[in-house]
Amino acid sequence: MSNLYGRRVLLGVTGGIAAYKSPDLVRRLREAGAQVRVAMTAGAMEFVRPLTFQAVSGEPVHHDLLDPAAEAAMGHIELARWADQVLVAPASANFMARLAHGMADDLLTTLCLATEAPIALAPAMNRVMWANAATLANRDLLVRRGIRMIGPGSGDQACGEVGEGRMLDVPDIVAALTGDPAEPGPLDGTRVLVTVGPTREAVDPVRFLSNRSSGRMGFAVAAAARRMGAEVVAVAGPCAVSTPPGVERVDVETAAQMHEAVMARAPGCDIFVGAAAVADYRVAEVPEAKIKKNDDTLTLSLLKNPDILQSVAALPDPPFTVGFAAETHDLRDHAEAKRRRKSLDMIAANWVGRAQGGFEGDENALEVLWEGGGRSLGMQSKAALADALMELVAERYHEERGSQDSR
Ligand code: CTP
Repeated sequence: MSNLYGRRVLLGVTGGIAAYKSPDLVRRLREAGAQVRVAMTAGAMEFVRPLTFQAVSGEPVHHDLLDPAAEAAMGHIELARWADQVLVAPASANFMARLAHGMADDLLTTLCLATEAPIALAPAMNRVMWANAATLANRDLLVRRGIRMIGPGSGDQACGEVGEGRMLDVPDIVAALTGDPAEPGPLDGTRVLVTVGPTREAVDPVRFLSNRSSGRMGFAVAAAARRMGAEVVAVAGPCAVSTPPGVERVDVETAAQMHEAVMARAPGCDIFVGAAAVADYRVAEVPEAKIKKNDDTLTLSLLKNPDILQSVAALPDPPFTVGFAAETHDLRDHAEAKRRRKSLDMIAANWVGRAQGGFEGDENALEVLWEGGGRSLGMQSKAALADALMELVAERYHEERGSQDSR
């Protein structure tokens, strides 16, 4: 059953060739149970006529900020209040730029500023425009402000090129909004807690120690667990990856905050995956004032942070606990020693310091080890790798719980 039932979705349509798919999106959202109202930019109206949206939504279509007729009935503030979800599809590069800079010079940007509803964008543009540093910076800014990016996907583009930037297909956009796994999965009824991304440890009010973790692997694990039917909470350090549909996100900054957020939730969960690159140390005493470069050398005194993974594994009735390990040599031996030392049910180890894989890339490979067994997962996208890892986790989890239940 779709969770869009009774939801009030305000669909913004901006000027891009992908706008031809938006009337179909209105129909699919309505089939999923939502009420839909449409707001178009002037650019969008060059591609699709408002009448088309009026016909498929069964509602008047909005496009003028200063429309006297609209002000009387559904003015922009009223429309912004009406929505409990704003979805802009397609979202053009220009629209993302205007939204990122808080402009309110047309109806749609004004609605986005005036609404308290969550906002999701399905970007659509030529691959070079998407890859432009300005667009990526706007995306990161919007994501940091809590705006969700649905896509874009890659493939054939209307301009004849091939690459990243095309709007996701309509069913995928609807699925992303509902966040419902389509089929019952192997983790149905389980609660999964995942740590994601780096942590930041303050040096002074303006500086911090951190690492290159992108958060992509952790969120891929969270998304995979959700697709497999679990209720998923991701405790995330600062990273610009958008939250996968249906995953609850808890944002933290430091290792101590991550530890606290995890320990408050771990006792109620079935599976814990430590995918965060937690800073091992924090600065012992953080000064209130910015450190001045008066001296030629500077010594920082560091204190060890609590090991979150180990604390979870040491709980009286611990969840099935999975850790990650990054190794530069003797990967299997070091990972297995780490698994035993931290009393983990499973460890997923990857090589670091090599040309491919690791923190920043889109791909990785893992050596997965558990008591009495293991599996190599070859170089592949982090999304595919997370699916394969979570399938192994589900298998081992059921096997262990099954043997415990039959005792
Ligand atoms: N971890 C944690 N809390 C910490 C440090 C690490 O939860 N304070 C978790 C990570 O999320 C990861 C695993 O522990 O799952 C990594 O273990 P760690 O001992 O940090 O190993 P490496 O990063 O591989 O580094 P080292 O070689 O220093 O042991």
